[in-house]
Amino acid sequence: MHPREPALTSASDFSALIRTASQEQHTEAEGSAFMSELLGGRLGLEAYTRYTEQLWFVYRALEESAGSLADDPVAGPFVRGDLFRLPALERDLTHLHGGTSWRDGLTPLPATAAYADRIAEVARDWPAGYVAHHYTRYLGDLSGGQIIRGTAEKTWGFARKGDGVRFYVFDAIANPAAFKREYRALLDAVPVDDLEKQRIIDECKRAFALNTRVFADLGARFRLPA
Ligand code: HEM
Repeated sequence: MHPREPALTSASDFSALIRTASQEQHTEAEGSAFMSELLGGRLGLEAYTRYTEQLWFVYRALEESAGSLADDPVAGPFVRGDLFRLPALERDLTHLHGGTSWRDGLTPLPATAAYADRIAEVARDWPAGYVAHHYTRYLGDLSGGQIIRGTAEKTWGFARKGDGVRFYVFDAIANPAAFKREYRALLDAVPVDDLEKQRIIDECKRAFALNTRVFADLGARFRLPA
């Protein structure tokens, strides 16, 4: 596992609790065969393209529902247009496919469909659950996502921060370290009681597990050990 920077929060803050509680699942997701092979530069461009397609379904679910949550007291503060990844993913996919034909007949893998369905469900019925999914994806993309970008640029020859890896480039976030600090402060201030916080942590673990299943589905397609 990659060393994680020490958190600048007190151990009982919610941001610290959610981070610690999901550490095991993080290690598991990171260590999945698909991710290890991808980061080891041992997979072809096709695998990277399939993975990027799956992300498109996940971010469509996260961002299509964001508008309806903007005024929600719990999820609303997390909804920020400067994080949105869908336009960048669409540019990457157009580049990877050499045109806009990638939309034709694109279907999610079963694990991706389950993941996107769960996001849509919490966005509709349980805004605090949406926060768990928001955290799991966007804070991860701002962190480990940068390692994936570097590997992708090197392995498949994308221009630095250019087409193919725009998903990992947060143009609108000038200072990612400061942004992560602010994000953790938002988590610490989330207006729910301890029981609900525990439920958010459980949903975060579920979000990690859903990601790991997407990797397993992708790994099976590329005949990797589970
Ligand atoms: C091989 C893949 C991955 C690598 C190399 C990686 C690496 C990292 C690193 C280095 C950090 C440290 C951030 C910090 O201390 O500020 C981090 C944080 C994080 N990662 Fe990953 N990660 C990977 C996969 C994932 C996946 C699949 C997810 C979930 C979808 C994820 C979610 C997160 C989250 C939520 C954080 C923020 C933790 C916090 O500070 O609260 N990561 N990752």
